[in-house]
Amino acid sequence: MSNEDKLQELESKKLKLKEGGGQARIDKQHASGKLTARERIDLLLDQGSFIEIDAFVQHRSVEFGMDKTEAPADGVVTGYGTVDGRPIYVFAQDFTVVGGSLGEMHAMKIAKVLDMAMKNGVPVIGINDSGGARIQEGVDALKGYGDIFFRNTMASGVIPQIAVIMGPCAGGAVYSPALMDFVFMVDKTSQMFITGPQVVQAVTGEAVTAEQLGGAMTHNSISGVAHFMYSDEKSCIEGIRKLLSFLPSNNLEDVPWQECDDDLNRLAPDLNYIVPDNPNKPYDVKDIITAVIDNGDFFEVQPYYAQNVVVGFARMNGKTVGIVANQPKVMAGSLDINASDKAARFVRFCDAFNIPLITFTDVPGYLPGVGQEHGGVIRHGAKLLYAYSEATVPKINVILRKAYGGAYIAMSSRHLGADMVFAWPTAEIAVMGPDGAANIIFRKDIEASDNPMETREQKIEEYRSQFANPYRAAARGYVDDIIVPEETRPRLVAALEMLAGKREERPAKKHGNFPV
Ligand code: HXC
Repeated sequence: MSNEDKLQELESKKLKLKEGGGQARIDKQHASGKLTARERIDLLLDQGSFIEIDAFVQHRSVEFGMDKTEAPADGVVTGYGTVDGRPIYVFAQDFTVVGGSLGEMHAMKIAKVLDMAMKNGVPVIGINDSGGARIQEGVDALKGYGDIFFRNTMASGVIPQIAVIMGPCAGGAVYSPALMDFVFMVDKTSQMFITGPQVVQAVTGEAVTAEQLGGAMTHNSISGVAHFMYSDEKSCIEGIRKLLSFLPSNNLEDVPWQECDDDLNRLAPDLNYIVPDNPNKPYDVKDIITAVIDNGDFFEVQPYYAQNVVVGFARMNGKTVGIVANQPKVMAGSLDINASDKAARFVRFCDAFNIPLITFTDVPGYLPGVGQEHGGVIRHGAKLLYAYSEATVPKINVILRKAYGGAYIAMSSRHLGADMVFAWPTAEIAVMGPDGAANIIFRKDIEASDNPMETREQKIEEYRSQFANPYRAAARGYVDDIIVPEETRPRLVAALEMLAGKREERPAKKHGNFPV
């Protein structure tokens, strides 16, 4: 063979690899509203930046007809490229090749990408579209999953790991996404479950569709397994690129910085009147968040799940911050099992990746109820206490209105190590709300009164004027300052600047016993 022939051979082999499972299967993929693995990577990465590795890898399975099965790239496209000029590792399962199923060599390719991403401190994005363990490869496929799970765990807190579900993701395969930091799903075309509808029907007798059991809406609103949902693959990929813009590449890097064209001293006069005079009236905490952050650009995480707490990324003076806020519009902003889990996980992510935390507090307490107690609200609620206590990034709290009981402590209080605690004049910081408190501590006076109703009202008012304000906490130094609401943005910007060099150590240990 001449050199010319060898070059041509290489070119034709590469072309063949790029065809994946062939045009018929690609057409089927497109017809079901899905892109191919390579199309997804091209959309995700900066144009022309993708460098493929291991395209020539082949499986070595011979049983059940596998000796005659060609599997280009062994059903997964792997490599690296850039997003907004920053390096990214990526793997995308190719459903057109043996259903994207995971065998020994397919798994080896994913493991290699994870190893390289870890070694080089670069985020990894895994696009899942697979029939699961390649049945013909038996225990070698299971070994492959184990190798991936181990690496996902090692990489946790070192590099951001983003899982994208763009097709089926069944059986143990779901645990790689679950071990990663964020799970993206596409409505109607992606599903995750441990066992599919047929097995569920056979075992429990429940009739359920795949979409109801493990579709994007299910995991975004009910189970909390997923963090983002988009209506199509293109908008999903735009969402991933946006998320990446907020994240450092690894745990040793500072957060990315963008030029800030929003006035750092901008006042937001509407905030002076946003909290209603009636303490039982709700308002939308997202109006406060967007009024305070750079250009109102809030990237909410898990917007459909546990909506009584709001979490997400924003920028202050061009640098990423993590926002945690009670949402008075939903369940009066109380903390329940799901909200505690959601907020604790987010706080831990931010802490692992050097992202300062801003908390907006308006919480009447942990949610009472038999369901909550039996569901373990003690254990789940403890996660939030643990997460804020453990976090050593700059922590700033703005108490907007209610901050009662254990929930006051949990929401980034001074006592869990908040660096700056601001309160608005509308803040009420106490063990419990005036109504409940009056019923307990003035019970005898109310019972002995000729007019119990009137006495009760008087006592509630007495309690409110003495305790339901920010001045008691400020008198003890638990609140650093009581601020005019419209000044919240400049005060936060200045506090973040002051805390930029924060260094705080925790005792050396193997790891804590997080209350899972
Ligand atoms: C080998 C597989 C496969 C698998 C699909 N294929 N899944 N090959 N191992 N796990 C092949 C099919 O034979 C078919 O090959 C091609 O991929 C496309 O599959 P279709 O069934 O034609 O596609 P579709 O109708 O869209 O259905 C997709 C599907 C279905 C719902 C994913 O294929 C399916 O149910 N697959 C099995 C899912 C499963 O039970 N996997 C094991 C889970 S247990 P041809 O040649 O006909 O195109 C597991 C354990 C992991 O993963 C444990 C880790 C700890």
